[in-house]
Amino acid sequence: MLTGVSGQIGHALAGVLGEFNVVGLSRNELDLSDQSAIRRTVQEIKPDLIIHPAAYTAVDKAESEPELACAINADAPRVIAEEAAKVGSALIHFSTDYVYDGKKETPYIETDTEKPTSVYGKSKLAGEQAILSVGLPHLILRTSWVYSAHGSNFLKTVLRLAREKEQLNIVADQFGAPTSSRSIAHALYYLVKQWDSEEASQTGVYHVTNNGRTSWHGFAQEIVNEYFVLGKKPVLKANVDSILETTSDQYTSAATRPANSCLNNDKLEGVFGVRLPSWQHGLQEVMQHLQI
Ligand SMILES: NC(=O)c1ccc[n+]([C@@H]2O[C@H](COP(=O)([O-])OP(=O)(O)OC[C@H]3O[C@@H](n4cnc5c(N)ncnc54)[C@H](OP(=O)(O)O)[C@@H]3O)[C@@H](O)[C@H]2O)c1
Repeated sequence: MLTGVSGQIGHALAGVLGEFNVVGLSRNELDLSDQSAIRRTVQEIKPDLIIHPAAYTAVDKAESEPELACAINADAPRVIAEEAAKVGSALIHFSTDYVYDGKKETPYIETDTEKPTSVYGKSKLAGEQAILSVGLPHLILRTSWVYSAHGSNFLKTVLRLAREKEQLNIVADQFGAPTSSRSIAHALYYLVKQWDSEEASQTGVYHVTNNGRTSWHGFAQEIVNEYFVLGKKPVLKANVDSILETTSDQYTSAATRPANSCLNNDKLEGVFGVRLPSWQHGLQEVMQHLQI
């Protein structure tokens, strides 16, 4: 059972898990705010595995809609986990770098203390904790800065702005790993094949991001650079040199974001032998498939 098939990660997963008997669910088929619908759906499907990327992902809007964000990101995963446990299903759940406050100097490891600063981050951490408290076999995959050729994201926003304007100002004091949903989906394919959900030592939280580190500014420059290298059309008004640095405090938003979103992926490699490619490689792959 796969939720959120219209989302960036859900859409990419539906594309690579074709050899399994996947029941993909959109919001129309399963509204996560309806707990009895979740219970009924899991009982009807009786899956071996639930993969749950669907979430309330509007980080700023969550500040004014905390109840809805918590219903989707904390209560729904709890109900999914409870029903999964009843039918003997394992669970792969997605979480976020926003569970950390971003004040650490080096990449976060899975045992670092969570300290979310936004409603979204708090709701996602509550979802993780709810799954832990149910106690079924699970993988909680924390990822960061997700983008894709499908859906709305930073990549699409930068290219739209670069078509419209000669100069862009992009935040240069937040650092992380841009992660393509395509890279996540390929990694997950191997995880699904290798994970022995009966093996208690494999259950737990993992960081899953593309390799390396940059700022939003560095990411924007690489997006525009790659667009030029591939000779894509329409031609952009902005170029790499006209993407200027700005700071987070110049850019007002409802939610605060971590300054350091870098996640250490060694645990994933150590347990499953899976390491995602560099963020630049992930970007190149997505740009080649991008239709605008
Ligand atoms: N995007 C990021 O930068 C990022 C970073 C770190 C972690 N994550 C985590 O990664 C996971 C996937 O993110 P994503 O980027 O793929 O998200 P996304 O593109 O925003 O997709 C979210 C999905 O959830 C569905 N959804 C939202 N509310 C729902 C509801 N009430 N009932 C049923 N479905 C609902 C959406 O359906 P509709 O299309 O109908 O709205 C959509 O399919 C999430 O757990 C997120 O927290 C994301």
